[in-house]
Parts: sequence; C-alpha cells; structure tokens
Amino acid sequence: MSKRKDRIRKQTLFATVVAQTTTCPDRPYTERTAVENQDEDDEEAKSPHAHDHAPVSEAILSSSTDFARLTWRQSGVRPPLTKLKKFRFQLLREWITEHTAPCRVADIGGGKGLLAYLLIQSGWEATTIDPFAQSLPTKYKDFVADRQVRIAESESVPRRNLPFAPEMAQDFDLLVAMHAHGCNIQIIDAAKNYRKDVILLPCCIIDEPLRPDQGVHWLQCLADYAKSKGFIIEPFRLNFKGQNIGLYARHSDSSS
Ligand SMILES: C[S@@+](CC[C@H](N)C(=O)[O-])C[C@H]1O[C@@H](n2cnc3c(N)ncnc32)[C@H](O)[C@@H]1O
Repeated sequence: MSKRKDRIRKQTLFATVVAQTTTCPDRPYTERTAVENQDEDDEEAKSPHAHDHAPVSEAILSSSTDFARLTWRQSGVRPPLTKLKKFRFQLLREWITEHTAPCRVADIGGGKGLLAYLLIQSGWEATTIDPFAQSLPTKYKDFVADRQVRIAESESVPRRNLPFAPEMAQDFDLLVAMHAHGCNIQIIDAAKNYRKDVILLPCCIIDEPLRPDQGVHWLQCLADYAKSKGFIIEPFRLNFKGQNIGLYARHSDSSS
C-alpha cells in the first residue's frame, strides 16, 4: 500500500473512532477540506491523529475568573496565527523554557515527538509518551530564525510507545500534555500523587473518567479539578489557531 493510501486509511479509521467517542464541538475530521487536512507546512497535521481543536470562545473565557485575563482584548496578545495549530510545538517549547528550569519532562500524547525534540535542543530532558508509535517529523520551522530545519532520519527522542500510566510520573518533574487524549484526569491525579507539576492544553474529551457539568467547559472543569487537588493554576495562551489555552498546575510548595 502506498504511503498516501496508508495515511488516508489511518485518517479514516481514526476519524471514525473520534466521531464515536469525542465531544469535540467542531466539524468531524472527515468533513474538513483537503487543504485543512494536508497543511504542507505542518507534518503533524498529516498525522492520523490530527483533528479539529476547537478554540475556547472569548465569551467562555471572559466569564471565568481563572481565564478572563486571557481574552485577546485583555491580554493584549497579537491575534492568532492564521493556520490551524501552526507552530504549536515551537510556541509551547518557548513557553516552557521561559517558565520552568531545565528538568525531566514527559510529553504525554506527544505524537511524533517534536515537542520533546525541541525541549532537548534547549537543554531539558524530555520523553514522549504515546501509545501510537511514530517517528519524528523530517523538518520543522524555526520561526525565530525564519528557516526550515531538517531533522535527520537517524535522530530520535526517548519514547515510550504506551498509554500514560500513573506510575510513569515518578520518572519526571513536569508532565506536559498538549491536545492529549484519554489521560488528562489521570495526569492530574498522578501529579498529585507523585508531587509533580503539570502543563495541560486540553482539547476534546475522549475516554476521560470525568465529564464537565452541563454548561461548564472542559478546560474549566480541568482547572477546577486541579484546584480541588491543591494545585495552583496559572493559565496561559499561545499564539496559534486552535485550542491554544494552557494550564500550568503547580503544587503550592513548588510555586514562587
Ligand atoms: C490529537 S493527538 C495530539 C498529539 C500532539 N500532542 C499534538 O499536539 O499534535 C492526541 C495524541 O494522544 C495520544 N493518546 C491517546 N490515548 C493516549 C493515552 N492513554 N496516553 C497517552 N497518549 C494517548 C494519541 O496517540 C495521539 O498521538
């Protein structure tokens, strides 16, 4: 089977699973245009796990005491970049390296491993945890230098091709999950148990043991859950299109 056919087969299979299990309020992946599904500049968007990531509306943000300061109006941040999810790994790497000291990071649901790769380049130790085995993308854009950077086929990042399990948290200082499926609540519980810090950028609700009450957004539900476990929440927003709001949840004794 050609690579293209194999990719389409995997995308169709994944879209079927997502359509059955997700509460993502967007159009189903299968209804997106060919251009949306094949953003040539973003290899990650070609992943069989790529799908829509609904941005949280400004109205929801402004009605939340945790998130109101992240509205574009209040934050004074530039409007989002125009392409879906573009540069999200680079932007998250930037945020992490500005807000944490070098440490051992688990990128849970990390897909191809680009975030781990970029963090390692910056001096952090990073491991991708994802049950779906994938190799690194072959290139990414360094948007500071404004150039494409090739990743040699021989390069790799530490990787566990497994679903996240709570005891894995013991081996890390910081648990990161961007648009990860099926493990957001588990990550908060594990971080509480092993006294780790967490960065979540949640999107759809897939295979989670907890569902938000009617009218409560998933992001708010996770923020409330983390606070109920004693974490101090620092919400942040990255400048890409899609679900770009993150929660930095720290133990009260780890915050400065
Ligand atoms: C939408 S993708 C996000 C990938 C990447 N973080 C990104 O931003 O593009 C969701 C990922 O979660 C992974 N995943 C699904 N269940 C998981 C689990 N139980 N533990 C860890 N990862 C999981 C999938 O394999 C997939 O790579």
